Amino acid sequence: MTTDKDRVWIFDTTLRDGEQSPGATMSHDEKLEIAGLLDDMGVDIIEAGFPIASEGDFAAVSEIAKNSKNAMICGLARANFKDIDRCAEAIRHAEKARIHTFIGTSPLHRAIPNLTMDEMADKIHETVTHARNLCENVQWSPMDATRTEWDYLCRVIEIAIRAGATTINIPDTVGYTAPAESADLIRRLIETVPGADDVIFATHCHNDLGMATANALAAVAGGARQIECTINGLGERAGNTALEEVVMAMKTRHDIMPWKTGIDTTKIMHISRRVSAVSGFNVQFNKAIVGKNAFAHESGIHQDGMLKNRENFEIMMPEDIGLSGTSLPLGKHSGRAALRDKLETLGFDVGDNQLKDIFVRFKDLADRKKEVFDDDIIALMGIGEGAEDAHLKLITLRVACGTGGPAEATLVMDVDGEQKTAIERGDGPVDAAFRAVRALHPNSTHLELYQVSAVTEGTDAQATVSVRLEEDGNIATGQSADTDTVVASTKAYISALNRLITRRQKLGTGGDKREVSYKDLT
Ligand code: KIV
Ligand code: ZN
Repeated sequence: MTTDKDRVWIFDTTLRDGEQSPGATMSHDEKLEIAGLLDDMGVDIIEAGFPIASEGDFAAVSEIAKNSKNAMICGLARANFKDIDRCAEAIRHAEKARIHTFIGTSPLHRAIPNLTMDEMADKIHETVTHARNLCENVQWSPMDATRTEWDYLCRVIEIAIRAGATTINIPDTVGYTAPAESADLIRRLIETVPGADDVIFATHCHNDLGMATANALAAVAGGARQIECTINGLGERAGNTALEEVVMAMKTRHDIMPWKTGIDTTKIMHISRRVSAVSGFNVQFNKAIVGKNAFAHESGIHQDGMLKNRENFEIMMPEDIGLSGTSLPLGKHSGRAALRDKLETLGFDVGDNQLKDIFVRFKDLADRKKEVFDDDIIALMGIGEGAEDAHLKLITLRVACGTGGPAEATLVMDVDGEQKTAIERGDGPVDAAFRAVRALHPNSTHLELYQVSAVTEGTDAQATVSVRLEEDGNIATGQSADTDTVVASTKAYISALNRLITRRQKLGTGGDKREVSYKDLT
C-alpha cells in the first residue's frame, strides 16, 4: 500500500454491514459476483462477511478470499477467541487478509455484556493481541465510538494500538454525529492517543440523520484515511455512507477535498445496478450519483441550458460513473452479436451459455416490445432464471379483471416437477394471481414489501417488481421484469418463495443457519 498522505483507502462493507440490512440477504453466488466487481473497481479492502454467523457466511468469505485479485479481504469478529479464530480461518487464503474485531464501548453498549471499564479494557487487550498473532493486519473498532466517553475512548484505542491493531476504526454506529464533530473527534484522537501516528484511522458512518457522507468526508478532513462505505448506501436502518457519494465528491470537488482513491469510477453504475438487483433494494430515483434521475433533465429551462452547455446543470459527466451518453435501442431483428456488444457496453461480461439464455429472454421481450432500451436489458440481466426456479415455476397465467367484479386468475405452475392448475379470485389482478400461487403452494409468508417501477417509458414499458416475504424470521426478496405487471409480480412472488424454500431446506440439513444473528452486533 502506498504511504501517500492524501490517499484514502476505500473499505467496502456492502457484503457485511449492507447485507445485514433486513431483507438484503444475498446468495453465495451473488456475494461472489459483487466481491469480484468491487475488486475490479479498485476497492482497497472488502469486508466480505461475518464468518462465525453461519456456515454460509464462512463459505462466502472463504471463497471470496480465494478469488480476490487486488483487494484485501476482511472478515468481522466480535471480541472473543472463537469469533477471531473462525475469521482467521475464513480469510487465510487471501493474498492480503485482515481481521476486523470490535466491541461496543459506549456506556449503553458496555452494559450489554455487563463489563466494567477495566474488564472491557482487558478484553480488548487480549482479543486484539490474539487477532494479531493470527494475522498481520488487524482492524479494531470501538462500536458506538461517537457516544463513548472521551477519556475511555482514548484509553481503549491506546490499548488496541499497543496490542497490535494496524487500523483503528471510529464507528458512528447510530448515525448520531455531525460533520464538525466528526472532523474534530478524529483530529483530537490523532493528536492525543499515543501511537496514533503509527496506525490508520478509519471512519464508519451510518445515515440515520442523513449525514453519513458529510460525516465521513469531515472525518477525512480531520485525518482519517480509510472510509467504510457500501454501494448505494445499503445498510441497517437508514444505511451506511454510500461509496459512490464519497468517491465522486472527492473527485468532483478535488479543489477543496484533495484526496485520492483507487476507484475506477466508470464502474460505479454497473455495480450499483447489480447490488440493487441482488439485494432487492431499489435505488431511489433522486439518489445522488446513481439514482435514475441523477443525470436526467426534464424541465424546459434545464433542457435548454443543457443544450447550450452541459456544465450549466451538470457538475459531473455521466460517463464518469459509467453511464453511456446515447444508446441505440435493439429490436426483434437484432442478433446475438449485437446483444453481446450491448451487454459489454453496459458492463456485463457473459459467457456463451449465459448469452444463449439471455438471448431467448431478449427475443421474447423484443416480440412484445418495439424497441428494447438499455434499461430493459439491464432489467433482464437483473433477474436470474436459475436458482429462482428451483421449486416453483410459472408456466402460464391468465387474469380476467375489470369493473364488473373480482379479478380471476388461472395459473398453471410447475411445483417440484409436477404441473398444477389453480383458479382463484381476488381483490384485483395481483391479489388473484398471488392467491392462485398460494393455492398451489400453501404458505404462511407475510408480504413485507411489494414495489413496482417502470423501467422505460411508454405503455409497453417493462415493469420491475420487487417482493419481500417474511416467514418465521427468514426474509427473502424476489424480483422480476416483464411488460405485463401482473406477470412480473407473480414471477417476483414465486422467486421469493423459491428462495425461502431453498433456505428452509438448507436449515433442515444444518445448512446456512445463522448461529449468530446480526442483531448481536448492536
Ligand atoms: O456500525 C458499527 O458500529 C459496525 C461495527 C461492527 C464496526 O458496523
Ligand atoms: Zn455499521
